[in-house]
Amino acid sequence: MNKSTRRTVIAGNWKMNKTPAEAKQLIEEIKASISGMNTDGCEIVACVPYIDIDIAVKTAAGSAVKIGAENCHWAKNGAFTGEISADMLVACGVEYVIIGHSERRQYFGETDITVNQRVKAALEAGLKVILCVGELLEQREQGITDETVSLQTKIALLGITEEQMADIIIAYEPVWAIGTGKTATSEQADEVCGVIRKVIASLYSDKCAEATTIQYGGSMNAKNAKELLGMVNVDGGLIGGASLKAEDFFSIISAAQ
Ligand code: PGA
Repeated sequence: MNKSTRRTVIAGNWKMNKTPAEAKQLIEEIKASISGMNTDGCEIVACVPYIDIDIAVKTAAGSAVKIGAENCHWAKNGAFTGEISADMLVACGVEYVIIGHSERRQYFGETDITVNQRVKAALEAGLKVILCVGELLEQREQGITDETVSLQTKIALLGITEEQMADIIIAYEPVWAIGTGKTATSEQADEVCGVIRKVIASLYSDKCAEATTIQYGGSMNAKNAKELLGMVNVDGGLIGGASLKAEDFFSIISAAQ
């Protein structure tokens, strides 16, 4: 397996943090930290709250930092109070969108079916998708991690063509490792990312599986990033807490180089 053929993507997930003024400052700090760095080998994304998108896109313009959103609705428009469509994101200059994050699944009733609907809508609008999958602690303890993650991946990708897979990144995020400071070991991360790669091979082709970027997420930080990113099946990271400080985020970007 030749990992170097895949895109390495380091994406921050800011969650419900940062006002527009704080977002501007953080993007400026990230830009300053990576200036002079050759970022060819690593794509850098900041997924920000909706209200920060406008300022984030303007501040990141002309730099290596791409802007993403943290969710989008599956309908093109309509009576969905409080929701944002994929077309609206594109109109604001957004390039990426996170779909199916475990916090959406846990607290906001997101299901595998609605994840699939959102993925389709995002791709149709021209966004790149960071699709999140991952098992709960109980599921890991029951020994059904592989089944859980495989099922989530299969349902999320229903109706998605091999050609569209070029715009999908999968983020393996064990729920028990998110925001807890408990990181999966690099072997655990590699193993499950490998399971996801096999699922993609079975759904599409070996070529597609080899080309798909699969990130690890869950308490990735400046200290553990190098080891995790060094694993053969781990092609980047989706980073929550450690993406909120430019210095920490920069350390992870450097580890990916
Ligand atoms: P964390 O979050 O890095 O704070 O664990 C990761 C995520 O939820 O994407």
